[in-house]
Amino acid sequence: MSDKEVKITIEPDGKIIEAGRGETFRSALSRSGYFFPQNCGGKAQCGHCRIEFEDPQPKILPREIELLGAESRLRLACLRRVNQDTVIRLPAVLEWSGDKTITDFAVAGSNTAGYGIAVDLGTTLVALYLADLSKGAIMAQTSFLNPQVHYGGDVMTRLEQAKSEDQRKILTDIVHRALEESINTLLVRTGVPGDKIRRTFISGNTAMTHLLLGRGGEGLERAPFRSPLEGNGILNLDSTWIGLDSDCLCEICPVIRGFIGGDTTAAIVAAGLDQNSGNRLLIDLGTNGEIVLSVGGKLWATSTAAGPAFEGVGMHDGMPALKGAIEGLSETGEPFVIGGGEPLGFCGSGYISAMAYILNTRIMNPTGLLEKNAANERVWSPLQSSKSSPAVYQ
Ligand code: FES
Repeated sequence: MSDKEVKITIEPDGKIIEAGRGETFRSALSRSGYFFPQNCGGKAQCGHCRIEFEDPQPKILPREIELLGAESRLRLACLRRVNQDTVIRLPAVLEWSGDKTITDFAVAGSNTAGYGIAVDLGTTLVALYLADLSKGAIMAQTSFLNPQVHYGGDVMTRLEQAKSEDQRKILTDIVHRALEESINTLLVRTGVPGDKIRRTFISGNTAMTHLLLGRGGEGLERAPFRSPLEGNGILNLDSTWIGLDSDCLCEICPVIRGFIGGDTTAAIVAAGLDQNSGNRLLIDLGTNGEIVLSVGGKLWATSTAAGPAFEGVGMHDGMPALKGAIEGLSETGEPFVIGGGEPLGFCGSGYISAMAYILNTRIMNPTGLLEKNAANERVWSPLQSSKSSPAVYQ
């Protein structure tokens, strides 16, 4: 260890990592494999990169009071720099829960020999399906948390990070390695040899497609939010990048325009929106959300950062759907907490459920005005007893 480096001891395991003097705790921990839900990408906006200092214990900063409350023992890893040997504790909220399951569905037979893999490359969740192409049947499926979430919860934060070439390589490489690992999982589970995978089709939003191809934002991250991939039709990926044989055809759904990407193309085709002349609305409410309106056969589409709008930057007590997040409320206002235990914040569905509850019970009026509570504040929490409970603020 050079004299510029100091030690961070991480409880409860007692593991010791090294950090450069002056480096942020966020950077040192991420580099050592401790990942945070960093929705804001280290800009001290989301309040998610929480650590607890055991020794020494620094005073709370004004920004931490805003995001965590004056009484909090937690501090923000992106604001704190390592200046001396330090003992910290990582709260349980740092555990991402990536165990979501996906409902199976039937696929039309394509009468092609061999096997294929379909990938839904989401900003947060990535799902893979291995199909027998001759029968048009899905044989196995798996999903994993997109490892890029540790570098930013939303696409704009990741594109911002990708401006650095080193960071861009990391973002691309970690998703390639995760795809390779999951493909191997499917192969082992089904007994299908890797060289029998003849086709792979990947759909993702435009930012995910850029990063998958090893590209940065290239204009996508600033107005007028255009992508050089627009109008290029089906894109190709070198299949060896994700551990498949070089003769496996690996294709990516076409980008339509700007953030209306390949995932929207896939959703339009899957819903048959392009085949129907009626008036219909398609909503893909993911981390990056898209809405497509079909009017008399003509399609209109738009896109927004739906997940972070509820879960990340800007919402008091907003958090991703991690252990401790309120994901919904009962009819009587009881919170359902992911993983049980003390609620730590609201994820998107929890916020929507809370809005419905306080609107139905007239705690909030139809204009959005909250009734004052006993402390004469326009604040409502499903757990009135605790001052530090997650709450909806006016
Ligand atoms: S990553 Fe530190 S506050 Fe968002």
